[in-house]
Amino acid sequence: MLLEQSSWPEIVSYLETSRGIILPIGSTEQHGPTGLIGTDAICAEAVARGVGEASGALVAPTLAFGMAQHHLGFPGSVTLRPRTLIAMICDIVHSLARQGFAKFYFLNGHGGNVATLSAAFSEIYAGQSLDPPRQGPAPCCRLRNWWQSRELRQLVEELYGDAEGSHATPSEVALAAFASAQALKRAPLDPAVATKKAGFTDAEDYRRAFPDGRIGSNPSLATAEDGRRLYEVAVKTATQDYLAWLAQ
Ligand code: NI
Repeated sequence: MLLEQSSWPEIVSYLETSRGIILPIGSTEQHGPTGLIGTDAICAEAVARGVGEASGALVAPTLAFGMAQHHLGFPGSVTLRPRTLIAMICDIVHSLARQGFAKFYFLNGHGGNVATLSAAFSEIYAGQSLDPPRQGPAPCCRLRNWWQSRELRQLVEELYGDAEGSHATPSEVALAAFASAQALKRAPLDPAVATKKAGFTDAEDYRRAFPDGRIGSNPSLATAEDGRRLYEVAVKTATQDYLAWLAQ
């Protein structure tokens, strides 16, 4: 069930059966010379909607912009400042909490969002502690990365081994191609497996350290069939996680 395709009376009925909502969040940022700029949002949305279908959960519109300041050296990348993203998350949660939603499951597609999402949750909880809401249940938030389960990490290891890397990875490129039904883009990659230098600060520093945008990955290993397998495992494991958390 998708929030944007529902009417308000349908949301009233939904709230009689569940207080949970899934919120996909991604990023709009470079993913190397062949990966889609929308990779993180496309992956988060596909997995979130799959979980919604499997569990009956309501799924919110995808937040397609995230905290991606280090990618700004590559055209097409967009960032929200951490404080902007924190403010957005707080406003979205408080809007829905006012109406009776209580369990906010953020299905994330971008590692760079993790620290800021955690800070947003702290902001929400601090608000409750300092100024408790007069009505309705207190919101409870959970962050889930689509790649988070052990089963998924095992599949990634089996498919790509050390060439998975940590940005513009073959797994996310494969999942995004499958989810968007787009043909995989191909281009010569040199070196085939990108450098894994540790650490970066701002956009200049990132571009210097990772000239084509990739970190430690070889996305040319990705296939659409891999994307289908990754999707199925990600949906299955995240559905189990969502339902277990909702029942707590
Ligand atoms: Ni990504």
